[in-house]
Amino acid sequence: MQPRADINQRIARISAHLCPSSNSQMEGSSGLGMANCRAKGGSPGFKVAILGAAGGIGQPLALLMKMNPLVSVLHLYDVVNTPGVTADISHMDTGAVVRGFLGPQQLENALTGMDLVVIPAGVPRKPGMTRDDLFNINAGIVKTLCEGIAKCCPKAIVNVISNPVNSTVPIAAEVFKRAGTYDPKRLLGVTKLDVVRANTFVAEVLGLDPREVDVPVVGGHAGVTILPLLSQVKPPCSLSPEETEYLTSRIQNGGTEVVEAKAGAGSATLSMAYAAVKFADACLRGLRGDAGVVECAYVSSQVTELPFFATKVLLGRNGVEEIYSLGPLNEYERAGLNKAKEELAASIQKGVTFIRK
Ligand SMILES: NC(=O)c1ccc[n+]([C@@H]2O[C@H](COP(=O)([O-])OP(=O)(O)OC[C@H]3O[C@@H](n4cnc5c(N)ncnc54)[C@H](O)[C@@H]3O)[C@@H](O)[C@H]2O)c1
Repeated sequence: MQPRADINQRIARISAHLCPSSNSQMEGSSGLGMANCRAKGGSPGFKVAILGAAGGIGQPLALLMKMNPLVSVLHLYDVVNTPGVTADISHMDTGAVVRGFLGPQQLENALTGMDLVVIPAGVPRKPGMTRDDLFNINAGIVKTLCEGIAKCCPKAIVNVISNPVNSTVPIAAEVFKRAGTYDPKRLLGVTKLDVVRANTFVAEVLGLDPREVDVPVVGGHAGVTILPLLSQVKPPCSLSPEETEYLTSRIQNGGTEVVEAKAGAGSATLSMAYAAVKFADACLRGLRGDAGVVECAYVSSQVTELPFFATKVLLGRNGVEEIYSLGPLNEYERAGLNKAKEELAASIQKGVTFIRK
């Protein structure tokens, strides 16, 4: 092959990642083009894909992941608008190399070789909707994306954000089981926003800096399945029954608070991207081999009789290395746990039935 033709092909390939539709416009470009640029050094680190990267969560999540020094390659996949988001994010002078992928025909390229896949693809809630109302659309989206993961990066850690998380994580598990790639340690439902909210709201009541507060939130990620363990707050504190009732209700309904304030324009995106990037960073630190990385997550679990449950987990080189028990619960929390388990059981079954039917 002629060197010039080779160069043109390389330009075409690079531009196809950034902007698939304008691929041909790049080919005849003259002057100092991408082909004249030196190869990027590529910082050592992990390869991360965001599926649903052009959405309300996806865009700020992509921004924050591009700032993470543990990320060397960042793949942005969506069914719309990835060329623009990718071009924009790729101008940030941080280490990660960014590539965009648009539409189902580019899903496999987006996923191949990834260490971590974060999934915020799907529709968000509108006022009056529960997370379960999203089931019919998002279940199908998560199924398709997980089929791609099973095929192209079966060893990747998967962070599921798409709601209803209580059902989409069991759906992902069933897809991986069917494909023969299921590793429960590598599949995590993201409940970090509930912890972030709990830390913030408890800090407000106690008059503390939220960064000093740690509230375990267990169960699942919808309504009464979100169970903050306020008796285990660090630093230790004593909350009155009224404060406990107020905080539990506000933490359980934090998502609805945002949905109503946005009045039809979607659900939490910015605080969610913040929570998702903190959670993804913890997964990457675990993969790197850091000691003592602990987060709450919704995972395959034997802490209760349910097959999936959120508790604190230890993250390591293989994903979830250890699952912690609930610890001592007070009477209020035991009653909350019973309610949470009842609803969770139905949501898990709904997810499993969706795949097995
Ligand atoms: N886990 C949590 O704590 C939490 C918090 C907030 C929102 N969510 C959920 O996250 C999801 C995304 O919310 P959002 O506000 O970003 O919604 P959004 O509509 O703004 O963005 C979703 C993106 O997904 C894309 N998408 C749709 N189908 C796709 C497919 N098949 N493949 C790839 N991408 C696809 C859309 O094009 C869009 O860009 C929703 O399901 C929402 O309920 C979860």
